[in-house]
Amino acid sequence: MEVIIRPTADAAAGLVARLIATEITRHPGLVLGLATGRTMERVYSRLVELHDTDDLDFSRCCTFNLDEYVGLAPDDVHSYRTYMDEHFFNRVNIDRRNTHLPNGLASDLDVECRAYEAGIRAAGGIDLQLLGIGRSGHIGFNEPLSALRSRTRVKALTRATIEQNAPLFGDPSLVPSRAITMGVGTIMDARRVLLLATGAEKARIVATAVEGPITAMISATALQLHERCTVIVDEDAASELAGADYYRWIFASEPEWEPFREE
Ligand code: GLP
Repeated sequence: MEVIIRPTADAAAGLVARLIATEITRHPGLVLGLATGRTMERVYSRLVELHDTDDLDFSRCCTFNLDEYVGLAPDDVHSYRTYMDEHFFNRVNIDRRNTHLPNGLASDLDVECRAYEAGIRAAGGIDLQLLGIGRSGHIGFNEPLSALRSRTRVKALTRATIEQNAPLFGDPSLVPSRAITMGVGTIMDARRVLLLATGAEKARIVATAVEGPITAMISATALQLHERCTVIVDEDAASELAGADYYRWIFASEPEWEPFREE
């Protein structure tokens, strides 16, 4: 794992977008794992900008989102499909047929979860997985005690997650109580992982996820076992990291990061 600290949330999201753009330019048929949440809005708007100004081409990309609420239709205003359409898919030249989210209305949710895994395998696996982090340390909707080898399945959301996502629904009672989510094992199979966290409210959980012991109570800690995981944070989210000076030194000195040092 490596940690990259950028001065602001915009710079952190900009770096994530540039890393994604670099991979797409090298591999136009990239299989992207995508995330939702407020943190990601900046990343999608930067990718849209790169599409508009630099002709970043998504036409051959294929995408799989981490999760979707159970019980919401794809065109529900609160579904993650609607989020993705509004923030990203409708604004770039991606082929809609290549965009995948679990179907939260499937009549048999277990069959839907297995089919989702099969779809990822058929696409050749995820090349680059984008992740946010919940305040309790979940990735996707892998709530506490998610098996570190879990696959796509239905998870009951914690009260904390429901409260965290309530502002987007206007009222906590409207937040679905379950979601289909890629498992921790599904995420760990991605060839490269980028986790983005910004803002002071993420500082504690970022330090725990990156520098704390690996535990199924905090699914993000499993990423310490991933061979190619980069955690990108702004200064606010980095404020509780014990190794921050070392992480800054890596970004300032390692040749791999040279092309990304200019804002
Ligand atoms: C939800 C999503 C996660 C996301 C988290 C953080 O729980 N399922 O994938 O990482 O929200 O969201 P935000 O970026 O709004 O803090």
